[in-house]
Amino acid sequence: MSRRRISIFGVTGSIGANTVSVIETLGADTFEVVAVSGNSNIAGLAKAARRLRAEVAVTADEGRLDELRAALAGSGIAAAAGTNALVEAASRPVDWVMSAIVGAAGLAPTLAAARTGATIALANKECLVAAGPVFMAEMRRSGATLLPVDSEHNAIFQLTCAERDCPIERLILTASGGPFLDRSLDEMAGVTVAQAVAHPNWSMGARISIDSATMFNKALEMIEARHLFSVTPAQIEVVVHPQSIIHSMVGFRDGSILAHLGPPDMRVAIGHALCWPERPELPVERLDFAALGRLDFQAPDPERFPALDLARVAMSRGGVSACVMNGSREVALDAFIAGQIGFLDMAALVGEAMERLDGLPEATDLDDIFAVDAQARRVGLELVKRFAA
Ligand SMILES: NC(=O)c1ccc[n+]([C@@H]2O[C@H](COP(=O)([O-])OP(=O)(O)OC[C@H]3O[C@@H](n4cnc5c(N)ncnc54)[C@H](OP(=O)(O)O)[C@@H]3O)[C@@H](O)[C@H]2O)c1
Repeated sequence: MSRRRISIFGVTGSIGANTVSVIETLGADTFEVVAVSGNSNIAGLAKAARRLRAEVAVTADEGRLDELRAALAGSGIAAAAGTNALVEAASRPVDWVMSAIVGAAGLAPTLAAARTGATIALANKECLVAAGPVFMAEMRRSGATLLPVDSEHNAIFQLTCAERDCPIERLILTASGGPFLDRSLDEMAGVTVAQAVAHPNWSMGARISIDSATMFNKALEMIEARHLFSVTPAQIEVVVHPQSIIHSMVGFRDGSILAHLGPPDMRVAIGHALCWPERPELPVERLDFAALGRLDFQAPDPERFPALDLARVAMSRGGVSACVMNGSREVALDAFIAGQIGFLDMAALVGEAMERLDGLPEATDLDDIFAVDAQARRVGLELVKRFAA
């Protein structure tokens, strides 16, 4: 593979750390790292920047510039801070960008990177959920290549690459079911943040782990899949597969179904996106089917995991409904982490925010998206107060 100029946004997170690990496995000399970003973890950001010999390190937190400068002292790496600096760093010309900031905060830098025509490895699912049509239109306009990193979508991408000319009949997203798959509603009402973060199969950031426990993660992925693969909501199915060995499946009109299997290790999807169209050699676990013995499947329970139905409502309403779902979900997640509301309140709150803000006008650009996102957060915060009372 020829030497690539790359940037990594969200380098201090779980996807970011796995990206650094894959880069070091493949040989840091294969990559010239331009920009890396983080937010609150200044020591981690400086450490990653030094390890990768980046040109610039950016924290989104404007007030931490001096701290970042001090952490980078003597390295020759430039320091920058604030959301404008993040967008400026994302606008620097590179071949490949990892978009791994969590939440809607990833939207502006990802779009700035796309406008340079770089290949975008997209881990941040909120870009597509909050701003799907606007985001995809920008992608087409800029000519940027979009490579999905979410393991389910990366799996589907790999499967459809092999069958490029065959129309998709159905996409089957697999869901582990998270840590509360076998808990009753009563038990789920009282679970703690520590229990929700403890994902049975995947090692991920805290926020996405809690989203997996509520199945909001899968709800976001349904909307993500709709935009990435241009399918209708009716073509998207979800099946619970507790072992997380099949990462998703694609059904074709002759009844054939192709499945992508592998260990539950994000380095596979990251390595695929980093080296595409080549395949890297990676030191991940090799599957042993005799040891696995069986693969299980079940339908998701809509009563205990209402997030999936909320995604269907958002898709059928269209417009900015998914943006409202995402903004209010981020607020509900913050409130659960802060101990203000219970686990089941998260989906109830999002459902109510979606009802209150039903019928908002369509978004035509990013400013419209940010306005709806802000409105959804305002309503979400009002509802937090009520649920917390
Ligand atoms: N983890 C996974 O296995 C996985 C799998 C599929 C998809 N994803 C998606 O990938 C994205 C990242 O997930 P993750 O698990 O890696 O998250 P994470 O561990 O929480 O890391 C999030 C990253 O975003 C940065 N960040 C947080 N708030 C920010 C803000 N306001 N502005 C700019 N940067 C900010 C964090 O910086 P600091 O840490 O310095 O604060 C960190 O670098 C999410 O959208 C997630 O849904 C993750």
